[in-house]
Amino acid sequence: MDSVIEIHGKKFELYINADSIAQRITEIASALKNDFSQLKPVFLGVLNGSFMFFSDLMKQIEFECEMEFVKTVSYHGTQSTGKVKDIFGVPQNLENRNIIIIEDVIDTGLTMKYLVDELQTLKPQSISICTLLLKPEAIKEEIPEIKHIGFSIPNEFVVGYGLDYDGLGRNLTEIYKAGLI
Ligand code: IMP
Ligand code: MG
Repeated sequence: MDSVIEIHGKKFELYINADSIAQRITEIASALKNDFSQLKPVFLGVLNGSFMFFSDLMKQIEFECEMEFVKTVSYHGTQSTGKVKDIFGVPQNLENRNIIIIEDVIDTGLTMKYLVDELQTLKPQSISICTLLLKPEAIKEEIPEIKHIGFSIPNEFVVGYGLDYDGLGRNLTEIYKAGLI
């Protein structure tokens, strides 16, 4: 893959390559097996950004589980609007279930906080969060449910492997960050 790409006229440089992502996913899958293999958990993917991470992670889960998806819309351009617009498609039959939320990136944490609060009203047995990326410098919320983090990254805009820049770049197989070039 090219180490520098351009999307909407903005340059991005290769940041986390496909091998590193795959290796981390194997480690996370093994940790999830330890915690959940007897619990028939529900993996809840947060669309759109988590689709690629979700798919690659699920290919390595061998225990019984269910899969559901919600869609959140909260982000425009490279700056968080700081507001969750909405969450669509929350499954209603989660009482006493163990939910594992699969997210692409936690930035301010506002989206995740909102989703967790919404899910709590459905009285699940447990909620854990597995996020591919976390920006510790950007997070504004306390979210104790975050249990698995693929990579902690600086407060910079990233694209690829499901993450978009104004709609583009989700199909890239590696993660790029906004370059200074
Ligand atoms: P938060 O509510 O600020 O945590 O933002 C969460 C959502 O914003 C994520 O699920 C992404 O859809 C989007 N987002 C945050 N940071 C980035 C980024 O660096 N690249 C692409 N999307 C991002
Ligand atoms: Mg997302």
